Amino acid sequence: MASSEKTSDQTPLLEISGLKTIFPTDDGIVNAVNDVSFSIARGQTVGVVGESGCGKSITGLSMLQLVPSPGRIEAGEILFYRNADDEPMDIARVSPKSELMRQIRGNEIAIIFQEPMTSLNPVYTVGNQIAEAVMLHDQVDKKTARERAIEMIARVGIPAPAQRVDEYPHQLSGGMRQRIMIAMALCCSPTLLIADEPTTALDVTIQAQVLGLMQELQAEMGMAIMLITHDLGVIADLADEVVVMYSGRVVERGSVDDIFYNPLHPYTQGLLKSIPVLGRTPQSTLPSIPGTVPHPLALPVGCSFAPRCPERMIACDAMPELVGINGKTENDEHAVRCWLHTDSEG
Ligand SMILES: Nc1ncnc2c1ncn2[C@@H]1O[C@H](COP(=O)(O)OP(=O)(O)OP(=O)(O)O)[C@@H](O)[C@H]1O
Ligand SMILES: [Mg+2]
Repeated sequence: MASSEKTSDQTPLLEISGLKTIFPTDDGIVNAVNDVSFSIARGQTVGVVGESGCGKSITGLSMLQLVPSPGRIEAGEILFYRNADDEPMDIARVSPKSELMRQIRGNEIAIIFQEPMTSLNPVYTVGNQIAEAVMLHDQVDKKTARERAIEMIARVGIPAPAQRVDEYPHQLSGGMRQRIMIAMALCCSPTLLIADEPTTALDVTIQAQVLGLMQELQAEMGMAIMLITHDLGVIADLADEVVVMYSGRVVERGSVDDIFYNPLHPYTQGLLKSIPVLGRTPQSTLPSIPGTVPHPLALPVGCSFAPRCPERMIACDAMPELVGINGKTENDEHAVRCWLHTDSEG
């Protein structure tokens, strides 16, 4: 596990609290992100994990004011410490189209979108697209931007960068396109990179290379990473802190060691059991969590995981709070939203 090798200075970079992002639909309101709280320190990697539809991408998009319409941030704070010494600003209160938000996007917080193939424009060369990103954020001329693009293409490990710079996305392999996405995200040295399933579309060898590259660049640039994935193996390798989400809420949060060695929520325990283990007999099938994620417009009353939970009890008919397991405050490092770990009066 990566935690012991990582160095982050623990000064806060981003503190999300009580974030609620909704989508009004004809059939009712979808609470895509519901009372989500966690923080990211400078230089740290926070893994966000959970099954499809649990709100991982919408949390990331909320942090950049990029929630697609008609979705909107309904409540909560996203405190961003732009400079370590200054008061934080609340991104949740910044207008999505403002100049300030444009400056933050890319310059300070960059994102690698979940669908990279749709984020690259097929009619422009990759060099033009990287140069465009450079010029959007730095006052440099075209020639300098092109040189920076070649430098970034080389930096992300693509051979013959001086030739590749003039190629179109379709001329590159999937792994190379993903590297181009990383180059675009990192060309302005952001303080936070949101990487939404950065390797899902890649085969395992390329996946390992791309993740290794992200780690290398992180060490070099000192940026923090919010790594969104449904793959706990990737989290174990890269993350310092882990946020486990279910049906729009944080159900457990803690250090990578807390989550892997002392998982408390039955959902986290279920996710961990479904990781393949080297040496397990090939005949044995991988256990998965029985049942399916509830539809966001038909959530059960109380704890959303209760219908699938092996530990279900009467108390689960009410929604438990996220509580720290030591001091019982939400700010405790290891926190869980489960009646098994909540005082009855709480
Ligand atoms: N444009 C939209 N309109 C209505 N509901 C939406 C919209 N976009 C997302 N949602 C809902 O918000 C919830 C959270 O979606 P989100 O994309 O964050 O999930 P995710 O955890 O990233 O899943 P995946 O692992 O599949 O990427 C889901 O229930 C989804 O149906
Ligand atoms: Mg997603």
